[in-house]
Amino acid sequence: MRSDADAAWTRLTEAAARAVQTPIARLFEAEPDRLSRLTLEAAGLHLDLSKQSWDRATLETAFDLAGVMDVEGARARLFSGEAVNLTEGRAVLHPALRASTGADFRALGEPVSAEVEATRADMAAYAEAVRSGAETGATGKAFTAVVHVGIGGSDLGPRLVWDALRPLEPAIDVRFVANIDPREMAEALTGLDPETTLVIVVSKTFTTQETLANAEIAKAWLAAALPEAGRDKHFIGVTAAPERAQAFGCGRTFAFRDWVGGRYSLWSAVSLSCVIGLGPEVFDRFLKGAEAMDRHFVEAPLQANAPVLMALAQIVNVDALGRPARTVAPYAHGLRRLPSFLQQLEMESNGKRVTRDGDVVTRQTCPVVFGEPGTNGQHAFFQQIHQGPMVVPAEFVVARRSHEHGSEAPLWANALAQAQALMIGKSQADARAELIASGATEAEADRLAPHKTFPGDRPSTTILMEAVTPEALGALIALYEHKTFVEGVIWDINSFDQWGVELGKVLAKAILKDVASGAPSDALDPSTADLLTRLL
Ligand code: F6P
Repeated sequence: MRSDADAAWTRLTEAAARAVQTPIARLFEAEPDRLSRLTLEAAGLHLDLSKQSWDRATLETAFDLAGVMDVEGARARLFSGEAVNLTEGRAVLHPALRASTGADFRALGEPVSAEVEATRADMAAYAEAVRSGAETGATGKAFTAVVHVGIGGSDLGPRLVWDALRPLEPAIDVRFVANIDPREMAEALTGLDPETTLVIVVSKTFTTQETLANAEIAKAWLAAALPEAGRDKHFIGVTAAPERAQAFGCGRTFAFRDWVGGRYSLWSAVSLSCVIGLGPEVFDRFLKGAEAMDRHFVEAPLQANAPVLMALAQIVNVDALGRPARTVAPYAHGLRRLPSFLQQLEMESNGKRVTRDGDVVTRQTCPVVFGEPGTNGQHAFFQQIHQGPMVVPAEFVVARRSHEHGSEAPLWANALAQAQALMIGKSQADARAELIASGATEAEADRLAPHKTFPGDRPSTTILMEAVTPEALGALIALYEHKTFVEGVIWDINSFDQWGVELGKVLAKAILKDVASGAPSDALDPSTADLLTRLL
């Protein structure tokens, strides 16, 4: 680590240690401009980072650190299509996928925007044809259902988009299958008619074990019911390896390039199922929202830059204050899959142990990210974040209108109340006084007050949107993508590879060989050999 970076980290850590001596609630009195400095508008979203555990001095040291780590230079390298994924020698250009017509993105110097636009137009035309019934299956019937088969980045993004934006009674029923447990495919196919079902197999590599296994099941399901002629019209591939998809039997293939990372791929043909289910216009609006966030990220000064501020808040919490987890609570039923999406986006991107030069990191990188939609999470794990000894920063994503039906005030009132409760807490003296006021004896009040005390001073960020519109969803996801990128730059790690998933894949193949041979091999450790024997 460079000495200027080391010095910047030390200044941040020392400033943060001083800042937490003052409760967050009191910082509002000490810093009259706190709210205006720490709230901002970005691409239609409103962000409030004023309830974070930082004071003005901490924030200044955090911006210094961002400067020393050259966040602006790294951002320029990302957008100009340099090989920022340096272990795989690839550009990382998901912003190109949501750019308006006429953009000129280049991956490693090669122009890509014309191809992106052509694929987008092909997708839109195909989706319209499916939606209108012009595109039919082997027996001439229109499609009424899509089964999307994919896992990880080929699943989580489109699932989130579909759940968030789907109509209550969609004309096309979109179902998702990821798990290698055949139960998920069985559930997805239940009630569907092969004659009117389109299977879309999504895999960047087209080698992923789970996806290929599920694709085989779907293929056999189609083959059992449909004539051979025209059957391939039911089987579509989306991949960066089109030759493999064709060899697998896909009748038509939509391609994307290796500069689209799996967990950043939902802006590409990976979301074909959503384009079909929601319609190309809705999907375009989703892209527009993300493009607006790209513009904000590129143009806003660091001090008023939403992804940068969110990244710095996380870095202060994780590295300066030793808080190893963060919870995300979307207060909108449509966003219920946001925590799972973010688990992959953040933990697969930044769960890294070596720097870009290959040295073992000397600080923590990605925290554990977990969550549930509000208000459900309140009745599950919020107890821990209010009273557990570990401080878990929280993020509240709140839609003023989550749906056209009913009043959402009870929903967002809960989000505000949770963030407020985490910050202000309740002292033991207040808890005791309340007990006395409600008729408890002095002895009872003494006994119960510690249990009813909330330490408070627990940080949170709140993100508000007017409604879960396609634009807001696009902006929100792009916000998290860029936040993840900025963190990776400051941690000096490569956010765009995922070697940590490989070893398990290799060992699973070896175990499957043992399964085929009927006995554990000598290479297995005693515990794994014993477990395998029991399963066999
Ligand atoms: O195993 C992890 C991973 O490689 C993810 O990065 C990726 O999103 C997922 O598997 C699926 O990969 P593919 O799209 O190639 O099937």
